[in-house]
Amino acid sequence: MALSFMRKESEATPEAMVFSDNFAAMDSLAEDLDGEIGADKWVEVSNTEADEVFDEIKRDQTFVILTLSSDDEGEVEACAELIRKASNAELLVLLVIGDVSPRTMHNVMRAGAVEFAPYPDPPGALQEAINRLRVARTQGGGALGSAKGKTQRSGKIVGVYGVAGGVGASTFAVNVAWELASIVRSEGRRVALFDFNFQYGSIATFLDVPRREAVYELVSEAGNLDQTGLMQALSSYRDRLHVLTAPRDALPLDIVAPSDIQNILALARDAFDYVVVDMPQALMGWSESVYSAADVFYALMETDMRSAQNMFRFIRSLKSEDLPLNKLQFVLNRAPGLTDLSGKARVKRLSESLGIEFAHMLPDGGKQVVNCCDQGAPLAEVARNNPLRREIAKVAQRAITLVTTTEASADSA
Ligand SMILES: Nc1ncnc2c1ncn2[C@@H]1O[C@H](COP(=O)(O)OP(=O)(O)OP(=O)(O)O)[C@@H](O)[C@H]1O
Ligand SMILES: [Mg+2]
Repeated sequence: MALSFMRKESEATPEAMVFSDNFAAMDSLAEDLDGEIGADKWVEVSNTEADEVFDEIKRDQTFVILTLSSDDEGEVEACAELIRKASNAELLVLLVIGDVSPRTMHNVMRAGAVEFAPYPDPPGALQEAINRLRVARTQGGGALGSAKGKTQRSGKIVGVYGVAGGVGASTFAVNVAWELASIVRSEGRRVALFDFNFQYGSIATFLDVPRREAVYELVSEAGNLDQTGLMQALSSYRDRLHVLTAPRDALPLDIVAPSDIQNILALARDAFDYVVVDMPQALMGWSESVYSAADVFYALMETDMRSAQNMFRFIRSLKSEDLPLNKLQFVLNRAPGLTDLSGKARVKRLSESLGIEFAHMLPDGGKQVVNCCDQGAPLAEVARNNPLRREIAKVAQRAITLVTTTEASADSA
């Protein structure tokens, strides 16, 4: 049964309008859309409502999902007609297609370039296609298959590195990326978060986003990667932050070469304004590629001896490679509080013996932080007033100033 478009008039703008007349697997599609988009964020409409719907919806808010599961000539033509109308209205369209013949496929594809998802198999294809549309929508461009309207950006790379295991680098990366995304959103700027710990990366868990199949291809064939391949591998968190998770299966860290990492980052710079990269603790041949590409690079540690010794070695290895230290920002996590005088004295000794100054001291945020990580949400979403969140919001604000200042001084040089 088709629900009227007008029915939802008083409610929030839907993310998708779904044309499902005669679609065979509508029940399971509805379930999947509930899961991927949210039960109250998509609306089922009938073909007869097409003109009205295409007039009403705004391409930057809502996309169109068309469906076809039959070779019946009338149905194929009706679907092709909808594709033509939607592309005339310059809307983003996803065609969900059931078990149809190659001839039918050919006929509907000829009607216009659209995103496409076979349904119900293979699993995940629908989710990936929806994700690509979301990316295309925030880009303000056409569907990813078409070059129309794409904007070239010149993104800034924000590296994040924990000198010892468990010092909080991934928690920092996730929350800095989310704060950045929230700050720059109103300017139409886009933020991505890349998990380069191909073995045990935890960003997918910390943000509760799916690990896409395409991540494996991205990592294993990074030398041949193009913009579409990159976009297909990205998950999206709340439609605001684009996330490259680690692959489903743990891969050796040296599966990528330095030139592969350079290629991934170059593509990322074209598509995003800020790219936060969470690095593995082990220093690899390609770590230098990330360091060199970074506009700002955060090195995290705690106050313990293990952190201190590793930080010492890390700085020494940068110096031995003649890498510039001016992009380094030292961050002390779980820093002692104001009243902990002996803790503060320890920090002073630490920074003197390492010859560094901490750009940021992050407080212990207590159990709430672990809970957020386990729940799969940034601190700002569920523990907005947590002291760690407040400090990380300052880091994000400062990062924007830092990379803008670096850019300005590079321009004037
Ligand atoms: N400032 C903090 N206050 C409270 N808990 C924190 C803080 N920073 C990190 N944590 C918690 O410490 C744990 C380890 O953090 P995280 O996974 O971010 O570290 P990591 O450096 O990325 O570790 P790995 O070496 O495994 O990559 C997480 O459970 C996280 O919630
Ligand atoms: Mg980590």
